[in-house]
Amino acid sequence: MPRQLSAAEIKAALTEAHGNYRENKDGKNADYIPYLAQVPSGLFGVAVVTADGQVFETGDVRTAFAIESISKVFNLALVMEQIGPVALRQKIGADPTGEPFNSVMAIELHRGKPLNPFVNAGAMATVSLVQAASAEDRWQEMISTMGRFAGRELTVNQEVYTSESKTNQHNRGIAWLLDSYGYMYSEVSSALDLYTRGCSVEITAADLAAMGATLATGGVNPVTGERVISQANVAKILAEMTMNGLYDSTGDWQYKVGLPGKSGVGGGILAVCPGRLAIGAFAPPLDTFGNSVRGQLAAQHLSETLGLNIYVAHDD
Ligand code: DON
Repeated sequence: MPRQLSAAEIKAALTEAHGNYRENKDGKNADYIPYLAQVPSGLFGVAVVTADGQVFETGDVRTAFAIESISKVFNLALVMEQIGPVALRQKIGADPTGEPFNSVMAIELHRGKPLNPFVNAGAMATVSLVQAASAEDRWQEMISTMGRFAGRELTVNQEVYTSESKTNQHNRGIAWLLDSYGYMYSEVSSALDLYTRGCSVEITAADLAAMGATLATGGVNPVTGERVISQANVAKILAEMTMNGLYDSTGDWQYKVGLPGKSGVGGGILAVCPGRLAIGAFAPPLDTFGNSVRGQLAAQHLSETLGLNIYVAHDD
């Protein structure tokens, strides 16, 4: 059993994680979505929410940013609740593509099967599986699920949504290619639009930690006390994050951090330590794989300092 962490230990590790990397200037904001290019690169916030609902924050944890690909985790949670993990795995998959998150080649190589719900192809196929009467109802399901994970009502940043909708030609290509192989389960343009809206939802690093803590507890938001998803599905979601959360650098992340994680090109990084806590970090500059540089460093520091790596046997 891992030992119980004290509040003082978590606070100290968080302050260090922020202080150590605050001045790090590596990486570059995403620029293929015009809005993201102009977000101030120096922003940096890190939050931790524990499985018993304690909240720890440092830096720009209340600054809103676009959730981007981290939305894929919560869309997956919604669809898994609706159709079950067996159907999800059969229709989408749980394996790495070994290619970048927006790879067309990966789709061709596997005759249309997206392989996992976190590459753009799999994420759009996942959204196309949301069960509801209309596109608007599907959207309500998606945004309310994200809100229940965060413990507050979330909204779309219209500027991000417009910026992204005008420049998502590549995703449109992916969506139609998926459809040609029979892996789109709703009308194509509505799945693309709902996916894009989901990426444009605004969150903070503090929200992100609460969203992750809801996974760390096995599906109950530890701050609101609401059960958001079933315990059985949480393990499957964490398995997807473990295999595919940081795309083609997920192996490196596991090697260094040892936690299920998920990144977004808005600069957010989520790491979940099952049964214990979640880390939500935000810093816009990304590495070449599309993952926040300072977010990864902060998560690694916290994992090492607090002994969070899930692959390490605990004897204390
Ligand atoms: O579809 C896209 O390209 C973006 N809306 C989201 C991509 C993303 O966040 C990839 N993650 N690192």
